[in-house]
Amino acid sequence: MSKPKILVARDVFPEIIEQLSQHFDVEANPDDVIFSPTELAQKLSDKVGAFTTGSERIDAAVLAAAPHLKICANMAVGYNNFDVAAMTSHGVKATNTPDVLTETTADFGFALLMATARRMTESEHFLRRGEWKKWRFDLFSGAEVHGSTLGILGMGRIGQGIAKRGAHGFGMKVIYNNRSRLSADIEAQSGATFLSKEEVLKTADHVVLVMPYSAESHHAIGAAELALMKPTATLINIARGGIVDDAALAKALRDKRIAAAGLDVFEGEPAVHPDLLTVPNVVLTPHIASATVKTRFAMAKLAADNLVAFLTQGRALTPVN
Ligand code: GLV
Repeated sequence: MSKPKILVARDVFPEIIEQLSQHFDVEANPDDVIFSPTELAQKLSDKVGAFTTGSERIDAAVLAAAPHLKICANMAVGYNNFDVAAMTSHGVKATNTPDVLTETTADFGFALLMATARRMTESEHFLRRGEWKKWRFDLFSGAEVHGSTLGILGMGRIGQGIAKRGAHGFGMKVIYNNRSRLSADIEAQSGATFLSKEEVLKTADHVVLVMPYSAESHHAIGAAELALMKPTATLINIARGGIVDDAALAKALRDKRIAAAGLDVFEGEPAVHPDLLTVPNVVLTPHIASATVKTRFAMAKLAADNLVAFLTQGRALTPVN
């Protein structure tokens, strides 16, 4: 009997292709081509399952061309590349990869906060350019991290991981805003106090964005929000591009409206707003917050396990619809 056909839309660990090949007829993408929406639709036209990443948009047009498709397993915790309503109405299961990346991503959020507040990349560039000629009392002085006030917007699992690092590791006062307030227990474990978004922006020395991207969070941080922040504050985005208005942020950084920013995600990535590339007080990384070998493997494995469990036993492990 022929095996069900699936697409693995991007290059991935060979062990994952091997695992999937035990159950499925796999069309892999070892050259890691980024498919256009038309190519993706064409490739999915005879598939029952797809292993996707944030670079594949699954929307009504793609679904209309994929009559046999039953599941898309995203190798990411975020799934804003999925039109979940359209998938549900086409009877297509959507899954993501929660939990396995929480601590690794929280580590990175904290690392980016520290690199930003302590001006690590800006000072490294200065050194590499050969401009370091003498010690100076104020050379690359940054903002204090320990004992400062950490503001978190979006207090899911990753937000809570960052809160714990700040509260328990660095003696920070942690304030947060989230669509819904956390239980008293989780607030106590995270060492975090609930405030309005405006109060968080006004009060925090470091603001970390960890909320999901949606129409509601599009440009949630624009010129008006940046204007509420302290001029000494830093802004960190490890959530999604599009939550921050990158043009407004570049202007706020250039005008020293805020001290610095650390960004792992960008609107329209991998393109980066050109103004961000010319301001010195920003640390830029290419969407790597979950990128340790162990965590990326765990994410790929969970996506593959979702495909196997759903297509062989009708049971997704981490469904979002
Ligand atoms: C990465 O951005 C993810 O959503 O897992």
